[in-house]
Amino acid sequence: MADKVRSYEGEDIVVTYSLRRCIHAEECVHGLPAVFDPNRRPWIDSDQASADELAEVILRCPTGALQFTRKDGGAEESIPDQNAITINPDGPLYVYGNIEITLPDGSVHTDTRVALCRCGATKNQPFCDNSHKDIEFKDPGRFQRVQVRPQKDDAGGPLKVRLSRNGPLLIQGPLELVGSEESVRGGQAVLCRCGGSANKPFCDGTHNKIGFTSE
Ligand code: SF4
Ligand code: FES
Repeated sequence: MADKVRSYEGEDIVVTYSLRRCIHAEECVHGLPAVFDPNRRPWIDSDQASADELAEVILRCPTGALQFTRKDGGAEESIPDQNAITINPDGPLYVYGNIEITLPDGSVHTDTRVALCRCGATKNQPFCDNSHKDIEFKDPGRFQRVQVRPQKDDAGGPLKVRLSRNGPLLIQGPLELVGSEESVRGGQAVLCRCGGSANKPFCDGTHNKIGFTSE
């Protein structure tokens, strides 16, 4: 299924919305209900708030489903200095920062906000499509045996994500991994995306045993 990205142009700002990447976290609906109203068509009215207010709420969208381009010369979204991966209990990995994801076709997706599947059930690999709810994925987001390699130096830089074929997410670059009870800093991690690891969020090789397949 191809992504459907729709554009909502206002006087001062253009908002785009990716249907496939929205997992209804509803930061938008709660943040600016006059702009984002799921019961109205079109559901986004970009003129119902100032461009600054809209930009501020869009930056809270954890999946990157919402993006914006300013027409009024105001500040565009900047690339964050720090990278972070937050483990959402019973849900995806929320990745924030200077993100570079190498997709299965070899193309590189750059972004500042994405939600990556960690239950194994998404139909939009590597992005979360809310399938964790359908399969009732459960994981509290606590660390057991932490397996994050230290960062070699203090240099910043992008967070590179590669997809191991039928296997985990290979993460490289300065990052903070934020669990529900603690966080750890490092420069390299191998994170489960099949949902089966006994040492979540890290891969423990279970993907082979359960025959996980991905694009
Ligand atoms: S904040 Fe983003 S993910 Fe959440 S409902 Fe709005 S568009 Fe969808
Ligand atoms: S990807 Fe889940 S255990 Fe390796």
